[in-house]
Amino acid sequence: MRLTDDEQRMLDGADGPAVQAAMDLLVRYGEVLGAERLIDTDNVCGANIFNAGQAQLGGRTPDEVFAQISLDGPGSFEIPQVRAHSCQLIGPMDTVEWQVQGVPEAARDAIMDSESYSGRHGINLLNTCTPYQVGNVPVRGEHCAWMESSAVIYINSVLGAMTNVEGRESAAAAMLTGKIPYWGYHLPENRHATIHVEVTVDVRTNRDWGLLGYAVGKAAGETVPVLTGIKDTPNLGKLKHFGAAAATSGGVEMYHIPGITAEAQTLEQALGGKRPARTVTYGPAEREAAYARLNTTATDSAVDLVMIGCPHASLDQIRDVCGLLGGRKVAPGTQLWVFTPRAIRLVAERNGYGDRLRSAGGQLMSDTCPAIGRFVPDGTRVIVTDSAKQAHYLPAIMGVQGWFGSTVECVDAAVTGRWQGELS
Ligand code: F3S
Repeated sequence: MRLTDDEQRMLDGADGPAVQAAMDLLVRYGEVLGAERLIDTDNVCGANIFNAGQAQLGGRTPDEVFAQISLDGPGSFEIPQVRAHSCQLIGPMDTVEWQVQGVPEAARDAIMDSESYSGRHGINLLNTCTPYQVGNVPVRGEHCAWMESSAVIYINSVLGAMTNVEGRESAAAAMLTGKIPYWGYHLPENRHATIHVEVTVDVRTNRDWGLLGYAVGKAAGETVPVLTGIKDTPNLGKLKHFGAAAATSGGVEMYHIPGITAEAQTLEQALGGKRPARTVTYGPAEREAAYARLNTTATDSAVDLVMIGCPHASLDQIRDVCGLLGGRKVAPGTQLWVFTPRAIRLVAERNGYGDRLRSAGGQLMSDTCPAIGRFVPDGTRVIVTDSAKQAHYLPAIMGVQGWFGSTVECVDAAVTGRWQGELS
């Protein structure tokens, strides 16, 4: 790999051992990927140092944990302030409602220590999988180093920013150096579509967009699809559901919808002037197949938990849930949890949505989600969600049955305690 003088200086230790370890990690990582050089980045989103798999820091200092786990370094050196503008993604715990989650006090203390460590090092504590909803909105062409597949596909496609799905280690190294290997979706030639998806059914609701994403992810795998035939003009919420689903059933990190996403006004532009390697159809049969796959784990209609807010809900989605409740109460024995970024939650509380949810027996939560934090209410057997991603992962992670449906069906399930959804 070719390094600039500045990068070589970092690798030689001129900026201290932590930056040296970070640069060493990036060089090793980049060489494995076949990157010929690094690229500057000033927008990094990474994980907090405490994750749900760590019961504690094991007697190590936070610096040691960062050095060993995040930088793959030998041990104990001081970690300096981050060089690149950086933020912390979603974590293992709601920092306010941790008792609702059932987090033990000792774990809570360790997670809070981890969080204040990140804050002291200049990492902005957004604590969400949707930083683009709460102030980190990269511009077209901006080279980023983000973790979290649902966020990556959103900023690559909808905003035209440039990032791969980074890991905890490469994101941490990018924070300290302001560099990331120049490969994958940083290269303009890799951003063209190779698969053409012809959509022949109406796609309008969040559920429709989730189903479409789930089908497209399966068809496209790790390639870039371009979709035509969409009659709707999707908003942020719909594209959030679509991208999260496509990144779940496949490894899609970028897509085009000509005239809607950032980098292509036409099918030809999306394909970079080439012919697609494959053309597939998304019609009634593909829609039904996606729905069946998402509901494959569930048989029981008695519902224990309704989860809304994967990816983290927007203010409008929270308002919609309050409206759908319409003064009704959540059924005894059923929980309704709505997840949103903390910054949006502040506004939701100001608007009275938090009170409306709580008075109905629901709960507004932030900073985490059941799949990342690995928690559901004690005794939960059946969950319901309007998120294809959560319906895909939570049964596997928590051993529960999962129903996927519309937000209307989810709220009805919370109120009645029964799942009565169907594909209309
Ligand atoms: Fe976000 Fe958790 Fe879903 S990280 S995208 S709410 S699985």
